[in-house]
Amino acid sequence: MHIIFQLLTKQVQDAVNCAFPKAVSIAKKEGKILNPQLVKASKPDFGDFQINGALALAKIIKKPPREIAEKIIEHLQKNQKFNNICLPPEIAGPGFINLTVKNNCLKNELLSRLNDDLLGVPLAQGKTPEKQLKPIIVDFSSPNIAKEMHVGHLRSTIIGDSIARILQFRGHQVLRLNHIGDWGTQFGMLITHLKNVAPEALTKANVVNLGDLVDFYRQAKKHFDEDKYFQKCSREEVVKLQQGNKESLKAWQLLCDQSRTSFKEIYNRLNIQLYERGESFYNPFLKDVIDDLSKLGLLVKDDGAKCVFLDAIKGKDGNPLAIIIQKSDGGFNYATTDLAAIRYRLNARPQGDGAGRIIYVTDAGQSNHFASVFQIAKLANWVPNYCQLDHVPFGLVQGEDGKKLKTRSGETIRLKDLLDEAIDRAKIDIERRLKEEGRNESNDFIDKVSETIGISAVKYADLSQNRITNYQFSFDRMLSLQGNTAPYLLYALVRIAGISRKGGKIKSLHNELFFNKEEEWNLSRELLKFDEIILEVEEQLLPNRLCNYLFELSQVFNRFYDHIPILKAEEPSRSSRLVLCRLTERTLKKGLNLLGISTLERM
Ligand code: ARG
Repeated sequence: MHIIFQLLTKQVQDAVNCAFPKAVSIAKKEGKILNPQLVKASKPDFGDFQINGALALAKIIKKPPREIAEKIIEHLQKNQKFNNICLPPEIAGPGFINLTVKNNCLKNELLSRLNDDLLGVPLAQGKTPEKQLKPIIVDFSSPNIAKEMHVGHLRSTIIGDSIARILQFRGHQVLRLNHIGDWGTQFGMLITHLKNVAPEALTKANVVNLGDLVDFYRQAKKHFDEDKYFQKCSREEVVKLQQGNKESLKAWQLLCDQSRTSFKEIYNRLNIQLYERGESFYNPFLKDVIDDLSKLGLLVKDDGAKCVFLDAIKGKDGNPLAIIIQKSDGGFNYATTDLAAIRYRLNARPQGDGAGRIIYVTDAGQSNHFASVFQIAKLANWVPNYCQLDHVPFGLVQGEDGKKLKTRSGETIRLKDLLDEAIDRAKIDIERRLKEEGRNESNDFIDKVSETIGISAVKYADLSQNRITNYQFSFDRMLSLQGNTAPYLLYALVRIAGISRKGGKIKSLHNELFFNKEEEWNLSRELLKFDEIILEVEEQLLPNRLCNYLFELSQVFNRFYDHIPILKAEEPSRSSRLVLCRLTERTLKKGLNLLGISTLERM
């Protein structure tokens, strides 16, 4: 009902302007507008929208609020366009005005969505002075080479993908960047260690897998912490790599390829598209960061390191936080790379990506890092005022005991194993259900359905939580057919698709819908919320709002389905109800698609 809301907002503002011209012009002189405060109704009993502003206006105009409300209504009703949308408004309580949208208007909205792929969602408009839409970068997933991708990366991958999908749906051009940790001192350590224990891994492809690499990395780190000579060799290796030594580069490339292969496997299973642009990409631009900051006088030498001191962010000792941009040995930090990345990403093409917004999806532990990096970028004037930088933080993934998610023997869970287990468990559930229902299905069918349910369950469990809070990972809960879960929604969709299949054609409705039951109106109103929900999710970057909506929609649908006949109804009710089924099906499908969840025809 976003469009209706926008129309009403304007009409209500006009009515206030006409009703209280004096107060409006005084407010205007003070640079204010008398806001009538049109909002969604706080309860369905109050209609669709309510105007709350009469109370505040009463204080300014010094008249009783109900009198103000009456005046607003009088002016609203002089506007024929308003009368076409709403029933006569009602005053409630001390002076709230309740608005109810007319049935005809709701029916037209529903009909217009039948042929609208956007389901009423408006396309985005640009924020630049030329109103041009600039690309949005979503920086997500971003695991590190030679380290296992962990559940934190899984969260980032799932949430980032959904955010990217929603922005794309709104008409944005989205660049999905995988900021892989593919550079830094770890390579010096790793290469030095491999020279001793597995030199062939540095010259030939496919001799070690990621599991081996992770072990080698652990051993190398231990060695590094204990052995001075090893440290010296590792540092020399880093320098060789940075200077572009051929052998070192080849070894580095091999190590990266090895990790990449196993990251790809995960992305393929999750059906996630990412464009890899690792930290190493920004190496040539690190020097510009130093130059820019030093020209602006922002760099301060502290103990040999070049730092920026941030007044607005305090360190542990209460003093301005020092961010090291270049270490005393000349090396650069994670933050330096992120600064170079911002500079590059916001720079106009072809020197950069020309982005208008960058969204970073990482765990909340990196909040300070991003707050500092954003601040430095702004101080350095790299962020035009129409560009936006957002960190989208999320909480930890915990086991059912509330502690860090681990295997029974206490090791970190590998993502591949986690996805396998979800699929295996989904398969057991399906086989049991088929047996109970006396159904005989092919192995291909069972495999396809268990894969889809297993993966969807993992994704949905993650997305349906408010991302800021920690979330407890539970296979039992996420695979349940009851409650706010992927299997529940997929099942609801299968049921609706079944009705459409059996119901044959929707008869010509002559552009009219015929409703005479409360359940029909409830479902209609729920369907018409889709556009607002998408706008809200985009604004707050909270996919759980979309999950809640889809869950609510399927519940409202089930009440409709359980209480009134559909296929057995007489025309024109039958076709009108089939229209609601079709719209519910499309809305659920689209919603799940925006969460990155594939749907099924049968299950
Ligand atoms: N590689 C980092 C990690 O594993 C995440 C990178 C996030 N993106 C960024 N531009 N810093 O924690």
